[in-house]
Amino acid sequence: MTHYFDADPEIASDPKDVVWSLPDGQLTITTDRGVFGHGSVDSGTKLLLLSAPAPPASGDLLDLGCGTGAIALTMARRSPGATVWAVDVNARARELCAANAARNGLTNVRVASPDDVPADLTLATIWSNPPIRIGKPALHELLLRWLGRMAPGASAFLVVQKHLGADSLQRWLVEQGHVADRHAIGAGFRVLRASAR
Ligand SMILES: C[S@@+](CC[C@H](N)C(=O)[O-])C[C@H]1O[C@@H](n2cnc3c(N)ncnc32)[C@H](O)[C@@H]1O
Repeated sequence: MTHYFDADPEIASDPKDVVWSLPDGQLTITTDRGVFGHGSVDSGTKLLLLSAPAPPASGDLLDLGCGTGAIALTMARRSPGATVWAVDVNARARELCAANAARNGLTNVRVASPDDVPADLTLATIWSNPPIRIGKPALHELLLRWLGRMAPGASAFLVVQKHLGADSLQRWLVEQGHVADRHAIGAGFRVLRASAR
């Protein structure tokens, strides 16, 4: 069985372009089978991008689980003076994200697998539509790994479907010592904002 979080999807490629508009401009993104969001941009991702505050203008920003790159590319366009790390375990996603950044003329996106991000990097923010489907223990491990790398005072914005556990994730974030609130709600999703206490 193929999952969108496979390291090397075996399913045959079937690229589809998606052109989509945000108030701050249009992006053309190639999507593919074996990568989250084939032929569309996820409603949760759209909510995150419509509701998040302006990302920091400089420093290192992270799109955790970049997929085809809708989040990373939007951050890169909003903060041309920052470096946006677009991280994914899925090699097909990384290839698409890099090609999509080039196609949209965004030169400040660095696509990487998780272990290729420099260990001493401190993150000014994290935006993510996280891979809930990997299961709770793996998701918690993933979030602990990356949220722990944020600069003091930085916040992460995570979009999660309500029926896939947004509220319990918010409680877990608080148990881990974060300030976690609901930044936005819509279309069955919650955008959680988490910052170090
Ligand atoms: C829900 S998708 C979101 C994709 C994209 N950001 C979007 O909004 O369309 C989550 C992504 O996380 C990736 N992922 C899964 N496990 C991961 C891990 N351990 N580290 C980084 N990315 C991971 C998946 O491959 C997938 O592309």
